[in-house]
Amino acid sequence: MDNSLKSKFKISPTASLVLCLASEIYQDGKTCQAYLENIETSEGELLLKSFKQIFEHSESIAVLRKRYIRNLFDYYANQFTQFQVCILGAGLDPISLYLLEQYDHQIETIFEVDIEFMDEKRALYTELIGDQNKVRLITHDATDIDPLLDELKRLGHHSLSPTIFLLEGFVYYISRDKFSTLLEKLAAADGNKVVILDYVLPFETIHESNREKSRLMLRSLEQGLGWPIMVYHKFDIIGLIQFFKGEIVTSDSTQSMEKKLYGDNEIYIYPTSGFMEMISFQFS
Ligand SMILES: C[S@@+](CC[C@H](N)C(=O)[O-])C[C@H]1O[C@@H](n2cnc3c(N)ncnc32)[C@H](O)[C@@H]1O
Repeated sequence: MDNSLKSKFKISPTASLVLCLASEIYQDGKTCQAYLENIETSEGELLLKSFKQIFEHSESIAVLRKRYIRNLFDYYANQFTQFQVCILGAGLDPISLYLLEQYDHQIETIFEVDIEFMDEKRALYTELIGDQNKVRLITHDATDIDPLLDELKRLGHHSLSPTIFLLEGFVYYISRDKFSTLLEKLAAADGNKVVILDYVLPFETIHESNREKSRLMLRSLEQGLGWPIMVYHKFDIIGLIQFFKGEIVTSDSTQSMEKKLYGDNEIYIYPTSGFMEMISFQFS
């Protein structure tokens, strides 16, 4: 099969940055590789270069995050016979291709939600895996949660089997109030829900060996986006989850993710060396 669309899909530098940062991840599966070949990421590569001048291990931020999320999917796939997945702020990450390769028989439907890219992504997916019902791409503001939950229902989401909500690289894009309302509404929705999310730490809390790098990277990201990044302390996130009666299942610093994935810490030596953390919890 010829997996190349006639012309490559061109995206903004910040959107392609995350694909460039995580490119190592996409070597794993055939479909993911072919997907990436269809996207023009040269501007993201330029941005990646400037990131690497600040922090030489920049790729590790996205790679650890994505590898660890895969481990969490393994963990939850062992808990549930069947499940649904809902990805908020899915962007161009081809994670559905990976999830279908791994858990096709267990996944009922994957819903990907973003305010942009969804039509183009559908075209890329269709090119690679054909037009199939299991992946639904929805152009929607994920913080406008009541209409979104209605739309999910209309497209086949139901409360009889669990849903894994993935908010990867998403929380720092939305205001604190919207994040809090999103958690409140997810907590109140019917059914068993798992939420996996990562959050960016305030640079002041990072170990001194990486503090200035964190400040510069945040500033560079904010310049690229044109608005401030929302940062959280672990106690803010835990407080919010517990306020809405969520049960925390896993909570990891970047250091602990690196240790669990690779058995050792080569990049993130201290508990506060990393710029982000990951937490997963359940609302039942
Ligand atoms: C940094 S990207 C993360 C993409 C992907 N989840 C990943 O980690 O590779 C953040 C994504 O969130 C999307 N986004 C930001 N605000 C949103 C909102 N209110 N509703 C839906 N998507 C949103 C952006 O369009 C962007 O695609």
